[in-house]
Amino acid sequence: MSESKNLWGGRFTGAAEPGFVEFNRSFGFDRRLFEADVKASLAHAGGLRAAGVLSTEEAAAIESGLRKILESGRSDEDYFNSPAEDVHSFVEARLIELIGDVGRKLHTGRSRNDQVATDLRLWLRDAVDNLQARLQITQTALLDLAESHREVVIPGYTHLQKAQPVLFPHWCLAYFEMLSRDRRRMNDARGCVNVMPLGAAALAGTSYPIDREAVARVLGFDTIAMNSLDAVSDRDFCIEFTSACSIIMVHLSRLAEDIIIYSTNEFGFFELSDAVATGSSLMPQKKNPDAMELVRGKAARVFGDNLQLLTMLKGLPLAYNKDIQEDKEAVFDAADTTSACLSVTAAVLGNLRVNEKVVSAAAASGYMNATELADYLARKGMPFREAHELTGRIVLRAIELGVELQDLQLDVLQEFSSQLTDDVFEALSVERTIATKNQVGGTSPARVSEALTIARAELETS
Ligand code: ARG
Repeated sequence: MSESKNLWGGRFTGAAEPGFVEFNRSFGFDRRLFEADVKASLAHAGGLRAAGVLSTEEAAAIESGLRKILESGRSDEDYFNSPAEDVHSFVEARLIELIGDVGRKLHTGRSRNDQVATDLRLWLRDAVDNLQARLQITQTALLDLAESHREVVIPGYTHLQKAQPVLFPHWCLAYFEMLSRDRRRMNDARGCVNVMPLGAAALAGTSYPIDREAVARVLGFDTIAMNSLDAVSDRDFCIEFTSACSIIMVHLSRLAEDIIIYSTNEFGFFELSDAVATGSSLMPQKKNPDAMELVRGKAARVFGDNLQLLTMLKGLPLAYNKDIQEDKEAVFDAADTTSACLSVTAAVLGNLRVNEKVVSAAAASGYMNATELADYLARKGMPFREAHELTGRIVLRAIELGVELQDLQLDVLQEFSSQLTDDVFEALSVERTIATKNQVGGTSPARVSEALTIARAELETS
């Protein structure tokens, strides 16, 4: 069999229109399933042999042919220069070329419909494992950054307005937490992916006595698909994967946005390393955060991949429809993009310089200790609402005088309340502000230090 002849022979007398042949092809992109296709074919050949459909000699010839094909594909890029319709017909054609007519027996009891679903799941399983490893590398970069700046305090924001100071490691650990959940989600997606459709054949199941469980074990699947119609036509495992990728990209994009803003001249908290920034061809002073902007921008692509799959699937009647061929590029793109974004984010974090002087000054200004003042009054017995109102008035006075709360004279403070005494200044210090947030999840040095230990242990045990 060669590619000049299509796979459905007998029923057709007319030739296909060349434009349609090209339109129908998927080999340009599904060749990425090559290794998976050969491995699944090897397992299928073993299943046919065990079922007595292939003789031992026939199975041996097919298996050694498939191994040679795998070798050629791995060693020779030009091997793929072929007009094949898709990866499945490509591998089959190469097999028949190599071993002759016995190669035609391999397709017994299977269809490209269960074949493609199996291949894609095998490919995705590796992609999930790769993303898990990259998530872990990015988490390590966050944790290293946190541990090398244990004492640094930065302003915390709500509405991008200064709110309350927090430890810099607390900021790092916020993103660490997000990526931990992403790893759990990827692990769930792996469970959904690692189910074997092979044996569903075109749609109704196979009539050959193939032990599907045994084939699944050979391929490392956790279990087999229990309904043939569902097995060949569902792609929820792809959607689960691109959803998990999309959520990773939301997190990376938010981190990118923080880094972009904090690296501006206006904030000056971070400086990006030359290794991950670019300059301007016109303005000599510029250092642009392209890496982080691209991560933020590429999030959109991955959301697009996810939406494409949802939309592609929603109107399909059971079982397989050719629309489904459109699944692969979205899955590949989401995997490639998310993987690249995780890598570049880890590199940016690993090279980030924190301008400690600027952040410390920023953390001590902007009335971020106003809540402390209200809490101080509340501790002295004033109802919190009243304390809040009074503190607001004190802040207003400080703004008029152009000073911070801790710089107000005690007699000025006492005009507002006699309960404000000398110890108020200690309560207003950045150190106290941080140290009082001492419940689980808070930003006190003790809590953050515990959280760092837990995070390190999580990375080391998984
Ligand atoms: N290239 C096809 C795909 O990606 C393989 C399955 C083709 N099946 C069919 N009945 N035409 O979905």
